[in-house]
Order: sequence, then C-alpha cells, then structure tokens
Amino acid sequence: MPIPSQLLSECRQIVGERQVVTDSERLEPYGRDETPGLAPALPDAVVRPGSADEVSRVLRACSQHGVAVTPRGGGTGHSGGCVAVQGGVVLAFERMQRILEISADDLTADVEPGVVLQDLHAAVEERGLFYPPDPGSLDTCTLGGNVAENAGGPRALRYGVTRDYVLGLEIALPAGDRLRIGKRTVKGVSGYDLTSLIVGSEGTLAVITAVTLKLIPRPRSVATALVTFDSAATAAAAVSALFGRGILPRTLEYMDGRSIDAVRPTAPFRFPEQIDAALIVETDGDDDEATLAQLGRAVEILDRAGARSTLIAQDARQQRDLWTSRRGLTEATRKIRRIKIAEDIAVPRRRIPEALARVAALGERCGVLTAAYGHAGDGNLHVQILFDDEGQRPAVERLLHQVMAMAIELGGTLSGEHGIGIAKKKFMPLEHSAGALDLMRRLKRAFDPAGILNPGKIF
Ligand code: MLT
Ligand code: ZN
Repeated sequence: MPIPSQLLSECRQIVGERQVVTDSERLEPYGRDETPGLAPALPDAVVRPGSADEVSRVLRACSQHGVAVTPRGGGTGHSGGCVAVQGGVVLAFERMQRILEISADDLTADVEPGVVLQDLHAAVEERGLFYPPDPGSLDTCTLGGNVAENAGGPRALRYGVTRDYVLGLEIALPAGDRLRIGKRTVKGVSGYDLTSLIVGSEGTLAVITAVTLKLIPRPRSVATALVTFDSAATAAAAVSALFGRGILPRTLEYMDGRSIDAVRPTAPFRFPEQIDAALIVETDGDDDEATLAQLGRAVEILDRAGARSTLIAQDARQQRDLWTSRRGLTEATRKIRRIKIAEDIAVPRRRIPEALARVAALGERCGVLTAAYGHAGDGNLHVQILFDDEGQRPAVERLLHQVMAMAIELGGTLSGEHGIGIAKKKFMPLEHSAGALDLMRRLKRAFDPAGILNPGKIF
C-alpha cells in the first residue's frame, strides 16, 4: 500500500517541506543498517523532526493513517532494528543533536536522541566527567539508538551498559502522547521502572525524544596492553584465570588469530606475526602508578596462564592505534569470505573457554569457517560465520541454530548488545518461554495497540 499523499502533506506541514524525503535515491541510505547480509528495505518516506513536539505530531498523523513508523539513529545497528521492513515512515533524528545540559553538580547530562556518542564523550570529558558506554560505532552512533538497543562496548566490563546510565527519558507514544518517565536522582523507587523497559526495547514501544544520563568522574589515567597467545584455548583459559583474583580491568577484549590476520593489513597497530589469539587489557584509575601496577598484575596472571608476549602501550597514540585496530575488526572480518553473518552471544564468563571450543567444533562439523572476537570479560562473543557460496546456506543455518542453542545451554543469551531486531527473532523461543514471550507481546500491545511502531521486530 503506498503511503497516503495526505499524510505526506501533513508531515510536510509539521516538519517543513525539505525535511520529508521521498525520492528513492535519497531514501537509499535509510534502507539498511550495519547488519551483514541484511536485504535493504526502503521506507516510503523519511521524516526529520526538529523537536519533541514535531515527533509527537508526526506520530499522531501516522497513527491516524495507520502507517508504520520506524525510528532511526545513526543506522549503525547489527540486527536490523532501524530498518523499515514493512515500509512506511522512517523517523530520523539528524536535526535533534543538541546536548541540552551537562551538570557537574548533579553528575547528569540531558541530550536529544540524535547526539552522536563521541560528541557526548568529548563534551563531558572536557569537564572532567565520564560517560562509559563505548560501542564500536561510537563516532557515528547516536544516543537515541544506544538507548533503544541498550548499547554496550568494551568498557562495559567495569562500567556496565547504557541501561546503567539512563536515569530518565522523554518519550512519545505511538499515538503521539508525550511523557516524561524515570528520574533525575541516583536513587528512586517510585512505580514501575518504565525507563528500564524502554531501554533495549529496540524502538518498538515508544520514540525517545530526550535522555537524562548519569555521569561519573573521569578516570585520569588509563593503561593498555596487548597480550598474545599461541592458541585460542590458552587465551580463553587465561580470561578465566583473571577473574576471582581481585582485579577488574576496564576492558578484556578477545580476538582470535583469524580476526587478527583479517585486520592486520589495514590496522594502524602492528600486531606481532603468527599469533593465534590476543587480549586487550586496559585498567584505569586516578593515579598513573597505581593504574600501571594494576595492569602489571593482570598481565602477570595472564602470563602465568600461558601468554606468549605482552606489549604495553607506551603512549596515548599507541593506545588509540590499538583501539582503532580493534574497532576495525567489524569491517575487516567482512572481507574474509564473500558473506559474513555476525552473532553476538553472551555466556557466563567462566563458560568462555567451552563456548569458544564448541563454536570452533560446530563450525568444523558443519564445514563452515568461523572467527570470533568480542568482549571476553563480559562473556560476550561476536561469532562470525563466513562463507562464499549460497549453496552453503543450509549448513550455515544449521550452524547458526547450533551456536544459539549452545549459548542458551551454557546459561547465556542470544544477544549481549546487538539486539534481536529481525536478524535473530526466529531464535527467541530458544531463550524465552512461551509465557514470557506472551507477556512481552502484551506489553507491546499496551504501548502500541495499533502495532504501528517499528513492526516486524523482536517477535
Ligand atoms: C564490536 O564489538 O566490535 C561491535 O559490537 C561490532 C561488531 O560486532 O563487529
Ligand atoms: Zn561488541
């Protein structure tokens, strides 16, 4: 069904002529996200509101016409959450990029949903404050998208994920009603925690129009090391050895040999040759000596667990190069084979060695190449499934199913940080009981009885 022209003219009246896009060439970038292999789906129109009031009026108009609305941040998601699979209107937040307030006294920041994460990082760090979540796409992803997907990143190990920093939200419900939910205080036990429900709901319950975030003081000193291993199994066992020893680094990132080889040619950091796995360990604090001493203790434990070599970053540039290289894995692993499917399972951290061994064995049994990297300290592994030929699709599907089932069997989850979207919804019954899924569907209906908000996602 084409979108009613009456709705388009109502939207133009609300947001202005130039903020409604309908020609297919300009719609094209809004038809996808970063999910590898996801078929693009063009919306009928992109509408770019400039204020919460405009968001609410556009939603009201769409709901009166029964037209689907898909909110979209930076388009950097990994599960199709912002892709308008049923057409309709994409609500894009490029014009809502203001940092409204940073309060050093309250340790809070108020932002519009289109603020790019890196810009918030810079603004708060300039004032000696810190907003820890750091997904790989931090230079392009937006706070609205981060909240919708409950974004994580390497620093989640010590500091937690987006949900741990969202105190309150301004939202618009699908029929256009505007609400303020949550709080501005650190503590608060007053009514149901609607804020936490919206965080991670993948844009299916409400549209976020402003976010109140908790900040913490910025750690003044950071120390980083790359620890290499001769085998994935030794690296995984070393991760386990580190916990329970009174050290909580701020990151403990894992990369297998195949991932390192993929990124090596373009990486600014020079990885040692012929290594089969590596960990990036980072510690922080307020004192250079203590931070370095903590890194030293972590490295010593990893050494005793069988590490081959350790490189301690000597300056901020080496640290940056190491992280740029780590973030380069997403793109670099796309080039290993023609097609890549990227997964995001998480398991209890002591099960990491078993999870990595089983992924490799399952890949071999199905005859499909795999690679793995991710946030080992959180038990969150980005398993990459790599193949050239559509003829392998049945084996790939079998492998995918087995990897997901394995994660659940180990006490884990389908997605640590990328969300379900459309990419993983078929696996939901592996993790959630029929009763839990039914309750989620009923919650969805309570927020969005007409089912117009980001339809086709999660379930
Ligand atoms: C990462 O950890 O690099 C991101 O979650 C993206 C990815 O999985 O490649
Ligand atoms: Zn990740």
